Amino acid sequence: MYLRHVALIGTMERRNYEFSWSDGIFRDCLKAGYLCQMVLLDDELIGYGIVQVAADEAHILNLCIDDSYQRQGFARLLLEHLVRQAEHRKAHTVFLEVRPSNPRAIELYERSGFNEVGLRKAYYDSAKGREDAIVMARNLVSNDETLFRH
Ligand SMILES: CC(C)(COP(=O)(O)OP(=O)(O)OC[C@H]1O[C@@H](n2cnc3c(N)ncnc32)[C@H](O)[C@@H]1OP(=O)(O)O)[C@@H](O)C(=O)NCCC(=O)NCCS
Repeated sequence: MYLRHVALIGTMERRNYEFSWSDGIFRDCLKAGYLCQMVLLDDELIGYGIVQVAADEAHILNLCIDDSYQRQGFARLLLEHLVRQAEHRKAHTVFLEVRPSNPRAIELYERSGFNEVGLRKAYYDSAKGREDAIVMARNLVSNDETLFRH
């Protein structure tokens, strides 16, 4: 993803989220050097993902597949790709937040090996005021490796 893609991604973001990121947030992610990846199908943008990697922790900040391309396995592929990229950047654990009201995303993450590890109270804007965030994590190193490191 480059700055020239932000306008198109912003339009997709607003189409797919009720509470969407501004274009400025995407620009800030690019400037900060976060992992910003697009999913292209025959040169057409159909989705994107943003990951922050700091020390040995990665944080998936955004993951989206455009409405008309959902339920075809693209999010699963994108998620796996982002996790591998985070691993390549030496992350040991990948974290993400998800709304309890987003069962599609929760199921995607659970099936991809993420487990619930916590709850952030009143984390998101919502139509009814605030909504909690479920915090999920996936460990990228085996217990044996963790023991070895310590
Ligand atoms: C959540 C989202 C990324 C899923 O994308 P997708 O490309 O449709 O997902 P996939 O086709 O790869 O599906 C992977 C798994 O997710 C789950 N899933 C996806 N869509 C689902 C639905 N409508 N109902 C139930 N489960 C669903 C299933 O477990 C699915 O596996 P299956 O197809 O074998 O049943 C997509 O709906 C999206 O971008 N939504 C808007 C943005 C968003 O909410 N992002 C997540 C923020 S935390």
